[in-house]
Amino acid sequence: MVKDLADSLNNSFKNAIKIPSPKTNYTIRMFRINWHKIENISFTSLAENKLIEISVFEKKIGLLKRNNMVHAFTAACPHAGASLCNGWLDAFGRIVCPEHKYRFDPTNGRNTSGEGYKLFTYPVEIRDDEIYVGLPQTLNPSH
Ligand code: FES
Repeated sequence: MVKDLADSLNNSFKNAIKIPSPKTNYTIRMFRINWHKIENISFTSLAENKLIEISVFEKKIGLLKRNNMVHAFTAACPHAGASLCNGWLDAFGRIVCPEHKYRFDPTNGRNTSGEGYKLFTYPVEIRDDEIYVGLPQTLNPSH
């Protein structure tokens, strides 16, 4: 019983806690994640300071490479659903929504213009120039 509980806890956290590397967007997540390789876009080919939208399992995800880091976030604005990738970056690298101009920090999803919304962000790892986004297991039907 104690061993089962220990195994269960170990399995719950083994995908949730990652050791940071210089190009790893590091966040401790309290749910299991699966790493998904982004097809047709490499770290090198991704332009700096450009918002792009991709689809992963029919989920729209925004990508932003800035200061040699890649950030991934839900592409739909948490306020009213506008596409954040149609927005732009302000002078501090915050994403400005094209609809009502609310601003979000792509590193942590914080709503820096103060309206109280939270942008969901995903962990990102770069492995041999390939970009991997960590998806909550519930978003990945293959697991
Ligand atoms: S829809 Fe993005 S700020 Fe309103």
